[in-house]
Amino acid sequence: MKPAYFVRENAVKAIVIGSGGREHAMAWTLLQSPKVTSVVCIPGNGGTATLPGCSNLAMSVDDVEGIARFCLVQNIGLVAIGPEQPLADGVADGLRAQGITVFGPNQDGAQLEASKAWAKALMQEMGIPTAASAVFANEKAATAYVEEQGAPIVIKADGLAAGKGVTVAMTLEEAKDAIAAIFAGQFGSAGRQVLVEECLTGQEASVLAVTDGVTIRPLMPAQDHKQIGDGDTGPNTGGMGAYAPTPVVSPTLLERIQAEVLEPVLQGLKNRGIDYRGVVYAGLMITAEGVPNVIEFNCRFGDPETQVVLPLLNTPLDQIMLACCEQRLEALPPFEWKSGYAACVVMAAAGYPGKYPKGMAINGLEVATKTGAMVFHAGTQLQKGVVTSSGGRNLGVTALGEGFENAIANAYVAVDAIQFDNAYYRRDIGHRVRDQF
Ligand code: AMP
Ligand code: GLY
Repeated sequence: MKPAYFVRENAVKAIVIGSGGREHAMAWTLLQSPKVTSVVCIPGNGGTATLPGCSNLAMSVDDVEGIARFCLVQNIGLVAIGPEQPLADGVADGLRAQGITVFGPNQDGAQLEASKAWAKALMQEMGIPTAASAVFANEKAATAYVEEQGAPIVIKADGLAAGKGVTVAMTLEEAKDAIAAIFAGQFGSAGRQVLVEECLTGQEASVLAVTDGVTIRPLMPAQDHKQIGDGDTGPNTGGMGAYAPTPVVSPTLLERIQAEVLEPVLQGLKNRGIDYRGVVYAGLMITAEGVPNVIEFNCRFGDPETQVVLPLLNTPLDQIMLACCEQRLEALPPFEWKSGYAACVVMAAAGYPGKYPKGMAINGLEVATKTGAMVFHAGTQLQKGVVTSSGGRNLGVTALGEGFENAIANAYVAVDAIQFDNAYYRRDIGHRVRDQF
């Protein structure tokens, strides 16, 4: 008998919504599947424009009518939504209403990421390990609470703030400033409520899981480097590098995360009547005692974690996504993975996450690819046949290796082959693993 993931005999034409490194990695991985004949990225980037089998479509990510029409005319069998904003805006709902097969939660499920207060209430109800916290709708009450608790303390805007809504305040002054800024409108409507949270210490890890609303299964655990500078210094960014699997999450700990985090979050969603089909991303703080505290849930693949998790996956990604969409994840055989490790080094423009230049021509991409690395594009575009930079984070250079150190070294060999003006990247991706083990 054929394995269950071969039940779908027909070829798959897929759409990936988004334009980052995560979406390039999703498109690249989908195209590794023998069944996927083509991928269209909406709107995509310079990498997806030049990826064989992939093309870009210049359409807005929230143009539900336009995307639905394209799907129906082109007979698209799968739409995978990358970023959180269209999910929070209900793009999955709109496409599903037209009978389209969508990987990604509806608006109700996306609240897991779009409202930290909502997610916290679910965690508390389900007994999921997480930092103690309180929610406030005005500055005075939040400030009074912070004074009572003392520093260090963590201040979070409730809504989506492009990864910038969290302040880990080492002093009371910093905490009060963060609260004032949020209520002064720094993050617009995302700051209508503020969460004040106990400050946890430990190792951070990202466990991305897929679910069809009934079954939830983890992918390879990963770790990313959020801060801009070597030694994990300076401001937070969208992520400067990542690796998987991370030794921080042992197989035993992953079982514990399944039982104490993933199964309960799915049950909490079900209790709310939510039929969630897509990725649940648990951002964890593993304490010295080994408790996997949830610091955030995201409703989508991580970026840059996806650039290291998906290249290790041997099971065709379309078959996992379709099993989630069609609620038959339980019948899928265990996911198959390559042996070894994957590491990703993000190449950014100097100045990021502050002001940075754009429009630099990027050279050496072919040489980098010839080393065996995968160069996932983020802020790039194809202009008259030339790939140029168009964002802060431009490339995610991923390499595999039999050992952790090989994967990291291979990624840097490929990075060294790439040149563009004002290129900036961290030199120490993976140092936390080296420091600990
Ligand atoms: P988030 O946007 O929720 O991922 O938070 C951004 C970063 O803030 C996380 O990656 C952590 O490094 C840090 N952080 C968030 N919550 C806490 C917490 N309760 N204790 C310590 N650090 C935290
Ligand atoms: N790498 C962090 C995130 O995707 O939110």
